[in-house]
Amino acid sequence: DPNQPNQETLARLERDFTLTTAQLQSLVKVFVNDMKRGLRSDTSVFKMIPSHVTSRPNGTETGTVLALDLGGSNFRVCEVNLEGKGVVRTRQRKFVVSDDLKTGTGEELFDFFADCVIAFLAEIKLPKDVNMKLGFTFSFPVQQLAINKGIAIQWTKGFTASGVEGKDVVGLLQDAFHRKGLKIEVSALANDTVGTLIAHAYVDASTYVGVILGTGTNAAYVERVDQIPKWKGAAPSSGEMVINMEWGAWGSEGVLLPTTSYDKQLDRASANPRAQIYEKMISGLYLGEITRYVLVDLISTGELFRGRGSAALAKPYNFDTANMSRIERDHTIELSDTRSVLEELSGIQHTSLADRRLVKRVCELIGTRAARLSAVGIAGVITKINRLDGCTVAVDGSVFEYYPHFANRIRDALREVVGVNAESIVLAQARDGSGQGAALIAAIN
Ligand code: BG6
Ligand code: GLC
Repeated sequence: DPNQPNQETLARLERDFTLTTAQLQSLVKVFVNDMKRGLRSDTSVFKMIPSHVTSRPNGTETGTVLALDLGGSNFRVCEVNLEGKGVVRTRQRKFVVSDDLKTGTGEELFDFFADCVIAFLAEIKLPKDVNMKLGFTFSFPVQQLAINKGIAIQWTKGFTASGVEGKDVVGLLQDAFHRKGLKIEVSALANDTVGTLIAHAYVDASTYVGVILGTGTNAAYVERVDQIPKWKGAAPSSGEMVINMEWGAWGSEGVLLPTTSYDKQLDRASANPRAQIYEKMISGLYLGEITRYVLVDLISTGELFRGRGSAALAKPYNFDTANMSRIERDHTIELSDTRSVLEELSGIQHTSLADRRLVKRVCELIGTRAARLSAVGIAGVITKINRLDGCTVAVDGSVFEYYPHFANRIRDALREVVGVNAESIVLAQARDGSGQGAALIAAIN
């Protein structure tokens, strides 16, 4: 049938990208073990960073604080009003962090944050020298030294700004505020996963895990302090500590994850080779790029588009994960929206129906693998904390929110690995919560 993709091509790709139930189950076991290793010492692939957040809000907290949220696709400044009874009101403004800022100097980057705060204060009609607390969501690995102090370990997600790694990011922000004449006090520093967890706990007390499936991926969860041998600080009265896992780093130790030649090409050409392997198989910055590598390969062998590629498709990171979402959502008989994506965004003219079906299948395979790998992490965390009988996982990020079928594919995979228990795991869509979470932490500290 000329309208069907080549069966051998399909079979090969399916073999490369499919994860069986047995594979998922054995990955969960390794995952739990790597979590334990990370709680014992700092030499594990999972950094398992104690966040210094030792209590969860109970919904009665009140106050008004600012939040600054440097996450994935957006940079946000928010004013957060905690009204008690689990009610939060926010005003916020989004800003775009240009590629030049991401890859320039840290000083320029942090000055830009201060300028955004100044613009936001003007907008909400507060004086520039207002004396307020601010919670800073910094969604990169940080060695947290105190609730308001943390050393940036290394950039991820394409950021490379100089003079930040090895420095206390609260200090860098506070210095920029001083340079720009702001009086705001940075009183909390949190990872986006920690913020998401804390913000959701404010409205749902059974929240024990916060997950980001967005530009990058990571999770934070509530651990018992007696389970953290490497914690040498005072024992908090709650007996609990929120741990920022930095789970995106999984697989960086070697051959554990079932990577394909395409994943390896992506990793080698990335800004952080050999790091964040799990993240590179799951998150939004990379899914489109894996797909692009597959398409370029199929073109080079003549299996796709009769061997004719395009300059647009040859360009790194030029095939957005959002394209995959559109293609996976395309249920037209002729796959005409897939045609538009290929023509308009990738410069590929005259595709056949067989071509488009093959492209769609590639997206499904890569998107499904990502969701199933995410399920491994979620199942791993819940297994570790013995909450298989029920808990809420707050999930935020563009991939979870916008990629079609992602949540359902996670649920299917969870059923395969934890059986009926999967029904008592609630995956709750959290939105824009991490800034609120940092604000909550600032308010209660
Ligand atoms: C947002 C959080 O809601 O989700 C950010 O406030 C976080 O801090 C983000 O990083 C993840 O989303 P994305 O898809 O933009 O990376
Ligand atoms: C990257 C960062 C991590 C963050 C995640 C989601 O993995 O290293 O800190 O939580 O992206 O934004």
